[in-house]
Amino acid sequence: MQVKRQNLLEEYRENFEEYGHTYASSVLGDTTIVTREPLNIQAVLATQFKDFGLGPRKHKPFSPLLGDGIFTVDGPGWEVSRALLRPQFARSQITQLENLEEHLQTMMECIPNGEGLTWRNRSCNSLKHRLSALRNGENDEETLGPRFTKYFNAAQDHLVTRFFLRDLANLHNPKDFKEAIQFIHNFVDRYVQKALDIQSQSDRKPNSEKPTTEKYVFLEAIAQETQDPVILRDALLNILLAGRDTTASLLGWVFYLLVRHPSVEQKLRATIQEHFGKEGEKPITFESLKNCKYLVWVINETMRMYPTVPINSRVAVVDTVLPLGGGPDQRSPVFVPKGTSVEYMIYAMHRREDIWGPDANWFRPERWGEKRNSKEFNNFEFLPFNAGPRICLGQQFALTEASYTIVRIFQRFKRFENAELNQFVKCNQTLTMAVGGKGVLVRCYGE
Ligand code: HEM
Repeated sequence: MQVKRQNLLEEYRENFEEYGHTYASSVLGDTTIVTREPLNIQAVLATQFKDFGLGPRKHKPFSPLLGDGIFTVDGPGWEVSRALLRPQFARSQITQLENLEEHLQTMMECIPNGEGLTWRNRSCNSLKHRLSALRNGENDEETLGPRFTKYFNAAQDHLVTRFFLRDLANLHNPKDFKEAIQFIHNFVDRYVQKALDIQSQSDRKPNSEKPTTEKYVFLEAIAQETQDPVILRDALLNILLAGRDTTASLLGWVFYLLVRHPSVEQKLRATIQEHFGKEGEKPITFESLKNCKYLVWVINETMRMYPTVPINSRVAVVDTVLPLGGGPDQRSPVFVPKGTSVEYMIYAMHRREDIWGPDANWFRPERWGEKRNSKEFNNFEFLPFNAGPRICLGQQFALTEASYTIVRIFQRFKRFENAELNQFVKCNQTLTMAVGGKGVLVRCYGE
């Protein structure tokens, strides 16, 4: 299987080279429209948003873990979830970088000078990052935290299997999946309960006694909006799923590519030195990170070549039409009957030569300073964070988190070296796409 060989995405890209930018594929009589056409993706995600939904293909496999959270529901349920979460990504929240520094210090201390850093999704304890933000953590958190991570990873693997089984998802429900979910829900429920206790104590205090300058805590903030423990649990787990492996995988690919492109690494190092100096020399802020142009280009180029969510899909909820892909020249509209899945391939779109040029398969951050053929595609040709009403809520947060991490690692380590002998790239495609094989093997040198 291509999934096991870790080159599924290249197989898809080859299909597009053979059949054109939009084609139909049939499995057991079930037809799916597969596209890497920016205008079709724009229709699905934005201009004809109401014609498409996530459909049962996501709710059925994912709901045992994620409940009715933002990733599993459509329509009014999704609107409620989005309205609950959206204010949490306000600028004032995502510009607080102090929390991040604390965890980066811990992480950087774990990297011995001259020895390998293995950057795998799995080794990033983002859970601790999210949940330890809660005040008065439990004493047994140290042992429960890693167990949570183990169960959360295992549960995600089962979700992927369930997703591939489509309508038969419920046939895959093994004992260890049920156990993992039980543990995860119990674990999260304790934090939810604590946040609810804080909320009810705060409700009892008169306004004049309520503290106004306390540190922002995500769960406590949403507990001010709803006191339903299941909604809070679902929200927390959906955000954890959204924010953990995605950002970790982006960072993994950044370092994977940098150690293989020394000239880019040197240029980035010089730029970081110029903008931020040595550790602690100049403040690193949301604005200064955004203004560091070459850093932005490196991140964009990484997400172009290795988008964290390289394949995605929607289901037509009414009979509808996509603008391109029909007729002998594929320039006519395509009829999409109600119930048909449309799979849109971000990875393959990000490598179209008619959009990105003949070097579309090369890592070249400088291209972001050049003009490209975007007008014809309505700026829907670069979509690492999706688009339209369901655009990623955490985009700015993720970019800030990733940029900050890169700057701090560059400041701490003076040289990086590739420690991987295998020259073939492997993509580990589960719910997100991370570097496959043994992960990102990099040696970091302090001097
Ligand atoms: C590099 C990092 C990230 C990437 C590439 C990314 C990408 C995406 C993509 C492609 C979607 C659309 C999924 C779909 O509709 O099928 C999405 C949705 C979402 N993302 Fe992100 N994401 C990242 C980080 C984050 C972070 C850090 C958070 C929050 C802490 C977050 C929160 C969300 C949420 C809540 C949604 C659901 C939006 C909705 O359905 O209305 N993401 N993200």
